[in-house]
Amino acid sequence: MKKLVVALMIVAFAVTAAWAADTVTYENKKGNVTFNHKAHGDKLGCNSCHEGEPAKIAVDKAAAHGATCKDCHKDQGGPTKCNDCHKK
Ligand code: HEC
Ligand code: HEC
Ligand code: HEC
Repeated sequence: MKKLVVALMIVAFAVTAAWAADTVTYENKKGNVTFNHKAHGDKLGCNSCHEGEPAKIAVDKAAAHGATCKDCHKDQGGPTKCNDCHKK
C-alpha cells in the first residue's frame, strides 16, 4: 500500500511538472497582464509556442510586445490594444 501511494505521488508530480500554471499573471505598473496558458494551449496546441519539450519561456516587455505574444495576436486575431492585455 505504501509503495502504491508513493508511486501515485510520483505520477502526480510528473504530471504537474510537465505543465505550468493554468494562468500566469505578469504584474506591472501599466496594469497586470493575465496570460491564460491553459486556454491558449487548448486552442492553439503546445507547438504554436514551444519547440520540442515544453519548457520555461522568458517573457519581458520586448518579447510580450513582439514575437512571444503580440505578433501572433496580429496574425490570428488576439488582443493588440494596450488595455486588452493590461488590466488595472
Ligand atoms: C500561446 C503560447 C503558449 C502555448 C500555446 C503554450 N505555452 Fe507553455 N508557456 C508559454 C509561456 C509564455 C510560458 C512561460 C510562462 C512564465 O512566464 O512563467 C510557458 C511555460 C511553460 C512551461 C514551463 C513552466 C515553468 O514555469 O517552468 C511548460 C512545462 C509549458 N509551458 C507547457 C506547455 C504545454 C504542455 C502546452 C500545450 C498544452 C503549452 N505549454 C502551450 C507559452 C505557451
Ligand atoms: C500562437 C498565437 C498566440 C500567442 C503566441 C499568444 N496568444 Fe494570446 N491569444 C491568441 C488568440 C488567437 C487569442 C484569441 C482567443 C479567442 O478569442 O478565443 C488570444 C487571446 C488572448 C487574450 C484575451 C483572452 C484571454 O485569454 O484572456 C489575452 C489577454 C492574451 N491572449 C494574452 C497573451 C499573452 C500575454 C501572450 C504571451 C505570453 C499571448 N497571449 C501569446 C493567440 C496567441
Ligand atoms: C499581447 C498583450 C500585450 C499588449 C497588447 C500590450 N502589452 Fe504591454 N506588456 C505585456 C506583458 C505580458 C508585459 C509584461 C512583461 C514582464 O512582466 O516583464 C508588458 C509590459 C509592459 C510595460 C512594462 C511595465 C513594467 O513595469 O516594466 C509597459 C510600460 C507596457 N507593457 C506598455 C504597453 C503599452 C503602452 C501597450 C499598447 C501600445 C501595451 N503595453 C500593449 C503585454 C501586452
